Amino acid sequence: MDGPVFTWRRFPALLALASSCVTSSVASPTPQESTTNSSFWPQSCCDALRSSLGSKVSLPNSSAYNASISSYWAQQETLIHPACVVSPTSARDVSAALKVLVPRRCKFAVRGGGHGAVAGIANIQDGVTIDLRGLNSITVSSDRKTVAVGGGQKWASVYAKLQPLGLAASGGRNGPVGVGGSTLGGGFGYFSTQVGFACDNVARFEVVLANGDIVTASPTSNANLWKALRGGGANFGIVTQFVLNTFPLGSIWAGDAYFSPEALEAQTQALYSLTANPNFDVNTGLVVNYAFSPSTGPIITNQYVYAQPIINPPTFQAFTSSPGQLMNSTSVTTLAAFSAAQEPISPNGFQQVTFSSLFKNDLQMLRDLWNIYTASTQNVAAVTGIQWSLSLEPVVPAIAAQSSARGGNVLGLSIPQEGLIMVLLTATFSSASDYPTVQTAADQLLANIIQAAKSKGVYAPYVDMNHAGKSQDPIATYGAANQAFLKAVARQYDPTGVFQALMPGGFKV
Ligand SMILES: Cc1cc2nc3c(=O)[nH]c(=O)nc-3n(C[C@H](O)[C@H](O)[C@H](O)COP(=O)(O)OP(=O)(O)OC[C@H]3O[C@@H](n4cnc5c(N)ncnc54)[C@H](O)[C@@H]3O)c2cc1C
Ligand SMILES: *[C@@H]1O[C@H](CO)[C@@H](O)[C@H](O)[C@H]1NC(C)=O
Ligand SMILES: *[C@@H]1O[C@H](CO)[C@@H](O)[C@H](O)[C@H]1NC(C)=O
Ligand SMILES: *[C@@H]1O[C@H](CO)[C@@H](O)[C@H](O)[C@H]1NC(C)=O
Ligand SMILES: *[C@@H]1O[C@H](CO)[C@@H](O)[C@H](O)[C@H]1NC(C)=O
Repeated sequence: MDGPVFTWRRFPALLALASSCVTSSVASPTPQESTTNSSFWPQSCCDALRSSLGSKVSLPNSSAYNASISSYWAQQETLIHPACVVSPTSARDVSAALKVLVPRRCKFAVRGGGHGAVAGIANIQDGVTIDLRGLNSITVSSDRKTVAVGGGQKWASVYAKLQPLGLAASGGRNGPVGVGGSTLGGGFGYFSTQVGFACDNVARFEVVLANGDIVTASPTSNANLWKALRGGGANFGIVTQFVLNTFPLGSIWAGDAYFSPEALEAQTQALYSLTANPNFDVNTGLVVNYAFSPSTGPIITNQYVYAQPIINPPTFQAFTSSPGQLMNSTSVTTLAAFSAAQEPISPNGFQQVTFSSLFKNDLQMLRDLWNIYTASTQNVAAVTGIQWSLSLEPVVPAIAAQSSARGGNVLGLSIPQEGLIMVLLTATFSSASDYPTVQTAADQLLANIIQAAKSKGVYAPYVDMNHAGKSQDPIATYGAANQAFLKAVARQYDPTGVFQALMPGGFKV
C-alpha cells in the first residue's frame, strides 16, 4: 500500500497486458467481526448522545450515517454498522461524547482517516463510532515552525496547505491517509530519513482523556503522555489536535518504475547496497514492491522520491540502470501533487489484508524473499481481483538519529549500520467470500518470511503498527521497557482501561 500497487490503473500499456480488470464489486454484507454483549445497550447510548450532541449524532439510514460508513478504505470497515455515528467538530464535543459513553459503559470506536486495514479498527458493529473528520482545522504557526492539525485530518490537506510556503511535514505517503492513525502508530514516510517518523515530529498533542478532561501533552506538560503517544497508538485518549514540526521542502523528483523479473538480481543488489551505504543520501525515499496480479504475474515496481528537484539522482543509479525496465513515470513534482496522485492507485472499497515484518539487511535473505514471495502467489492466484503486493522499505541508521534528535519515540527500533528491511504485505481483492483464503495465504507467507529470517540469524521482531495484521501485536515488539512504560502511562491517564475495554478497535497495550 505504500508504493505503486495498481499498476494498470496508471499505465495503459500494462492495462493492455491485463486480461481482466478489477471491478469495485461490493460483497454480501456479512461483517467478519461483530460485537454483541448483553450488558451493553447501543440504543440507549445513542439516545443519551443525542441529548448531549443533537444533530452531530446520526442514525442508520440517514445520509450522514451512510456517508461516514461508506467512506472507509477497507471494505471490511464499510460492512460494519454501528448503532450511531457521532461527528464532533471540537475537542469539547469529543469530551462531551466520552462523558456520555464512559459512565454508561457504551462500546465505541474512533475513526480518523479511515485507512486502517483491520476490520473493527475504526468502526464497531452495534456500538458508537466517533468520526473525527470534522476536526479538520490546519493552522500554520506565525513562525512557520509548526502546523496545528485537527485529529481527523488527512495528509493530503496538510501537504497542500504547506506546499505554497515551501514547507512540508513528516507523514504518510498517500494523501488520503489519516494524520491520526498514522502518527499514533509511528508513520514512516518519504522523508523519514531526513526528519524521522511522523510521531517524532509531534511537538504537542491535544488529548481528550477517558474522563473527558482536555489536556496538552508536550515535553513540558504531561511529558509521559507525549512520549507514549509517539507510537503507542490509541491507548491513552482521543487526540483532537497534532502540532507538527514543519521542514523546508520545495520541488521533489518522484515517480514509479516497473521491471520484469529479469531485473531481480540487479534490483536486489541495489537495494542491499543502498540500505547498507554508510554515506546514505538522506534525500532518498524508496519503496520497492513485489507486485502480483494473475494478469501480469510477479513484477518489481520501485517508487523513487528524492527531496530535491534533481532528475535521476545518483542515489538511485543502481536501480535505474538495471536491465528489465518496462516503463517509468518519474518527474519533477511536489509532495502535495505526488501524494494526491497516489489516491486513485489505492482506492476505497476493496477487501484488504496486511502484515508487517522486519529483518536485517542481508543479500541472501533478499534473494530468498523473492522466491518465498513468488511461491506464495499460487495460493491467491484464483482470488477475484487479487493484488498481492509486498513492499520492501529500507530502514537506515539516519532515521534513528533523527528520531532521537527530536525527543525519541516508543517504537524501540534499533537500527544497525547495515540497516533493516521492513516488509509489508498489502493484499487487495474484491469479495469478502475470499477473505479466509487470502488471510490464510498471508499468515503462511509471514510465517515463511520469519522462518527464513530466523534461519539466517537476521530476524528483527519489530512490527509496524500502521501495517500490522489483525493477529499481530506491535506493542509487544517495542521491547519490554517500552511496553511496560506504555502500560504504566495508560493506567496513569485511563485508570479503568476505557481505551482497551470499551474501545476494542486498534492495537492495545
Ligand atoms: C494507501 C495507504 C497508504 C499508506 N501509507 C502509509 C505510509 O506511507 N506510512 C505509514 O506509516 N503508514 C501508511 N499507511 C498505513 C496507515 O498509517 C494506517 O492504516 C493508519 O492506521 C491509518 O490511519 P487513519 O487515521 O487513516 O485510520 P483509521 O482507520 O481511522 O484509524 C486507525 C487507528 O488509529 C486510531 N485513531 C485515528 N485517529 C485518531 C485520533 N485522532 N485519536 C486517537 N486515535 C485515533 C483509530 O481509533 C484506529 O485505532 C498507509 C495506508 C494506506 C491504506
Ligand atoms: C460484556 O461486557 C462486559 C463489560 O465490558 C464484560 O465483562 C463481559 O465479558 C462481556 N461479555 C461478553 C459475552 O462479551
Ligand atoms: C433502513 O432502510 C431499509 C430499507 O430502505 C430498511 O429495510 C431498514 O429496516 C432500515 N433500517 C433502519 C435502522 O431504519
Ligand atoms: C442509507 O443506506 C441505506 C442502506 O443502503 C439505504 O436504504 C438508505 O436509503 C440510505 N439513506 C439515505 C438517506 O441515503
Ligand atoms: C524512464 O524511462 C525513460 C525512457 O525509457 C528513460 O530515458 C529514463 O532514464 C527512465 N528513468 C528512470 C528514472 O528510470
